[in-house]
Amino acid sequence: MTTPRHPATPPRLRHFYDKLRSPGYGGDYNPEQWGPEVHVEDAQLMKQAGVNLVSLGIFAWAQCEPAPGAYDFDWLDGHMDRLAATGVCVTLATMTASPPPWMAVEHPETLPVMADGTVLYPGARQHWCPSSPVYREHAVRFVERLAERYADHPALALWHIGNEFGCHESRHCHCAVSTEAFRGWLRARYGTVDALNDAWSTDFWSQRYTGFDQIFTPRTAPSFRNPTQQLDYQRFSSDELLACYRAERDALDRITPHIPVTTNFVPVAKTLDLFAWAEHLDVISYDSYPDPHDAQSFQHTAFGFDVMRGLRGGQPWLLMEQAPSAVNWRRRNGRKPRGRMRLDSWQAVAHGADSVLFFQWRASRGGAEKFHSAMVPHGGPDHPLHREVAALGEELAAHPDLLGSVPERADVALLLDWPNWWAVELDAHPADIAFLDAAHAHHRPFHDAAVATDVVPVTGDFSPYKILVVPHLYAVSEADAQRVKDYVRAGGTLVMSYFSGITDEHDRVHLGGYPGPFRDLLGLTVDEFDPRPNGTWAEEIRLEGAEAVETFDSGAPSVTRHAYGDGVAWYLATRPGPQDFRRLVDRVCEESGVHPVLPDLLPGAYARTRVTADGSRIHIVLDEGERGVTVRRD
Ligand code: GLA
Repeated sequence: MTTPRHPATPPRLRHFYDKLRSPGYGGDYNPEQWGPEVHVEDAQLMKQAGVNLVSLGIFAWAQCEPAPGAYDFDWLDGHMDRLAATGVCVTLATMTASPPPWMAVEHPETLPVMADGTVLYPGARQHWCPSSPVYREHAVRFVERLAERYADHPALALWHIGNEFGCHESRHCHCAVSTEAFRGWLRARYGTVDALNDAWSTDFWSQRYTGFDQIFTPRTAPSFRNPTQQLDYQRFSSDELLACYRAERDALDRITPHIPVTTNFVPVAKTLDLFAWAEHLDVISYDSYPDPHDAQSFQHTAFGFDVMRGLRGGQPWLLMEQAPSAVNWRRRNGRKPRGRMRLDSWQAVAHGADSVLFFQWRASRGGAEKFHSAMVPHGGPDHPLHREVAALGEELAAHPDLLGSVPERADVALLLDWPNWWAVELDAHPADIAFLDAAHAHHRPFHDAAVATDVVPVTGDFSPYKILVVPHLYAVSEADAQRVKDYVRAGGTLVMSYFSGITDEHDRVHLGGYPGPFRDLLGLTVDEFDPRPNGTWAEEIRLEGAEAVETFDSGAPSVTRHAYGDGVAWYLATRPGPQDFRRLVDRVCEESGVHPVLPDLLPGAYARTRVTADGSRIHIVLDEGERGVTVRRD
């Protein structure tokens, strides 16, 4: 039987919950695209559809600061007041995701530069260099004015900083300012250039530096770029974007210390080390865009939701955006069949979401997103999609105690580490490994078995879990490897897959045989990697205490099991096909006493449980087929 956990709720988040009263329902609201008659209709329709939360002004910087230092907030006052009068809370955007066009003209050095020197110009969005002090100063000054203006406004419930940090090409910048910032970041990390030379293995290919001023960001180069330079540049880029976020958050904390702060994360994206970001948010927010044409998307979405819940140790999170039906940015944009929006929404709630929000409230008339679905489609409120939206609003409002209820802890944890993700996907490896695909493949057999999974960082507490799943932990420090070993020694069950324990945090190989620090834990040595022409990964293994549970056609071990301390360590020297993986997971779960969340689920369904403030348990049963969603209460 699993136990709920009780993650600490930041005190100022209570203010947000008190205002909301039931799960958040609504979406991005962009009234600057419409005239007064539409605004009046918006208020009526929001009321009818059970909307209690909107994200306002995400791309309205140009309207609020039409010229440098000239602010116009009057129009926004009207919207804030109308929303307050309608009983709709506001997640107010800091609006800094997209600077007004004048900034690029007055300060062209704020424009981002790609690895090949291409400058990214305004005309789309997010055209700013993350290291630019000029951009940051303008952003913070603007945010200060905004916060001062609305600090005590009754509609203000939550701050939404920027938008989807790192989602566009501007996530990495190679301009002169960024190059200097990278050098400063490296100085802080390594202290001396000799320490950097050692970490970066620069005695290779005549790369030895004699000063930090000789180092560039990893720009387009004749051959493979230094792997540790690439890895550190990923770390740097995530840190630079976080510094932009934090500069705004610090300003907000000074002026509105009572208002919680968030930013919305892109569907499990490689760019940001979200475990490093999470402590700087009061609540995690997530944008989820499953592809209705992708048969795997239901499970992949479940994984993404598990990641979001894991970022702050099981704390509920906000579904900040999803599409009511089609998006506009795939090559072919499938609509959601009727009922799918409801299923997707409840899936988020089941996995710990405290809100169901959409992009966007009203479909735009012009601009690049006019064919993106919305809560109020171009066809208006009589459209069947809007009727579905209104019905869902009513349904969620009938479960007010879901808001803030604690997602029950899983017995299985999957380990995710962003620096490892960056490292394992570097070039010049035995074969390419797509880490997110791998994470999905390791999550799927548990999902199909209706067994709940949490997601933990490499520095997390593994002890509450019966099973720890570790896909391709390629780059790992001795200290982190030791923590995995301690977990197994104390009785845990580990499922680790190939290409783990290969390098340290600087991407230098752990010598003495693969998989370095995990050899005694796994009871084996990998003598050679043997990726096959058909795309499968294989390895030549020497058993040193482990037993072979499965073998390759050659008879050599492919899946092994090793008793270690009070626990067991499994090793996968290849990726089993879906059925074999499921069979293996069923065996591991049975040996470890891990069961589906509910005992009586029909095939194809799975459930997640949330525990309310008064201790009652709400089970949300999800089924992609005809049965859809069922909410059960004990
Ligand atoms: C992202 C952005 C939104 C919008 C949607 C469209 O999630 O945050 O502004 O562009 O995509 O799907």
